[in-house]
Amino acid sequence: MQLIKKSTRFISLTLAILFLFQFCKEKEILVQEGRGLIAEKAMVVSAREEASRIGLLMMEKGGNAFDAMVATELALAVAYPFAGNLGGGGFMVYRLKDGTSGSIDYREKAPLAASRDMYLDKNGEVIPGLSTLGAMAVGVPGTIAGVFEVHRKLGSLPIEEILAPVIELAEKGVVVTENQEKRLANNRADIIKVSGENTLFAQEFKAGDTIKYPALAETLRRISKNGRDEFYKGETAQKLVAFIQEKGGIITMEDLNQYEAKWRDPIRFGYKNYQLISMAPPSSGGITLAQILGMLEPFDLKAMGHNTAAYIQVLTEAERRAYADRNYYLGDPDFVEIPTEVLLGKDYLKERMASFNPEKATLSSEISHGVIQFLESDETTHYSIVDQFGNAAAITTTLNGAYGSKLYSDELGFFLNNEMDDFSAKAGVPNMFGLIGAEANSIAPGKRMLSSMTPTIVEKDGKLLMVVGTPGGSTIITSVLQTILNVVEFDMTMQEAVDAPRFHHQWIPDLVNFEPEGFSAEVLQALKDKGYNINEGYTPILGKVDAILVLPNGKLEGGADRRGDDAAVGF
Ligand code: GLY
Repeated sequence: MQLIKKSTRFISLTLAILFLFQFCKEKEILVQEGRGLIAEKAMVVSAREEASRIGLLMMEKGGNAFDAMVATELALAVAYPFAGNLGGGGFMVYRLKDGTSGSIDYREKAPLAASRDMYLDKNGEVIPGLSTLGAMAVGVPGTIAGVFEVHRKLGSLPIEEILAPVIELAEKGVVVTENQEKRLANNRADIIKVSGENTLFAQEFKAGDTIKYPALAETLRRISKNGRDEFYKGETAQKLVAFIQEKGGIITMEDLNQYEAKWRDPIRFGYKNYQLISMAPPSSGGITLAQILGMLEPFDLKAMGHNTAAYIQVLTEAERRAYADRNYYLGDPDFVEIPTEVLLGKDYLKERMASFNPEKATLSSEISHGVIQFLESDETTHYSIVDQFGNAAAITTTLNGAYGSKLYSDELGFFLNNEMDDFSAKAGVPNMFGLIGAEANSIAPGKRMLSSMTPTIVEKDGKLLMVVGTPGGSTIITSVLQTILNVVEFDMTMQEAVDAPRFHHQWIPDLVNFEPEGFSAEVLQALKDKGYNINEGYTPILGKVDAILVLPNGKLEGGADRRGDDAAVGF
């Protein structure tokens, strides 16, 4: 009797294992030790599973990475209103299956009525909150122009087919996660202050609640029917302009009519055996990442060891020098001359690191330490896509701060950005990320504000290796840097590289920030002994990296950041 029971159990177990094996084989998806999700052909990694799934659905229908881009971007506007948007902007870097690459800039622009000193009072002082809260903080949104331009040039499925599941999601609603409950609670008072007590997000939503977005569904339905111009010239444009002006803003129909997304040559550069493709100005991401990696290239980082004091020190010193250049030289290339070749020159970067002393910290400048002002770490959002044809896309999109300017149009169903704060309102005065700007990033009508977004693609031996990016304001560049180094120097899996604790330095304030609990007291003490100013106060999580790695066998590994609700899906 006992024997029969045992053998029945053995047979059941064997059958279960066989079934599981067959199921995994059929789905061609396996989860391996230390790795994120593995897929055979195609993958989307984004801040919400709902958005990743809608992106993947496009590829299951036979569409490509760019159909998936449009779908994921707009699904994030529904599922992740914290940063996903119709009222913001972003950048996409792409690499086609034949190895050609490019990028598109759908960054917001200053309204035509904007002026250099618009955020200063009569004494020339920055008026607190004017560039961060409410209608005066809003830049002309670029997202709809961006996704339609991507679709026009690179997409393959009809736009109505791409938008249908997004509209359905908005109608059906999205379940609030615990992270979202906290984010909404943290920002509720400001949302009410700006958008009034009757606005949708004035309600105290709890984890498990479903939020439906009928107004957004209606806006998307009009855009699906009438195309890009619905947002920039049509009924939506008129409603949007009337709403912004009623709330005290200066955006006009002419601003919307004139808005265009721009194809730009990305920044392409080498690091050891790798080739990288990243975003050019008006994002500082590509140039700053290239400068930091160029300064690090002569060092044996692997021998130093991951996150040791020596490693943190050399990265910090390279970051210090690169951010100092960023803040001085970079701005909208349509308005300012940027000495890109010089900034990326090997001799220049060697010279910049010549003052590096492994025994002690270099001082950032005479300017006293700013108070660290990262109130939110995860504004902005990034998603990565690889399709079944071998095309890849890295996209970072933003409202700037959490829920942007907190100005929510209940009629249209979306938040508006506070991207104007990414300009330098006054030389030498830090913005919400503590970044100090100069003339190159001063406000001018129709100008794009400098960004730190760093959507990046890494190649090895002429083949696609990694698609990577993250939110995090000024910390974006250093989070992308560390994720890439974790893989190429320290042989981590994609998931390990994304999960590893991160640190950040940005020249001013002269502080090094560490994720809580990621670094030992000994390492921090060794840095202090060398004269580094460690931020001992609260440091939030640094970035939420969503990335894809092509494994040696050609399969894809997703790295979805454990710090958020991020999810990789694939087939
Ligand atoms: N708004 C954040 C960035 O563009 O860097």
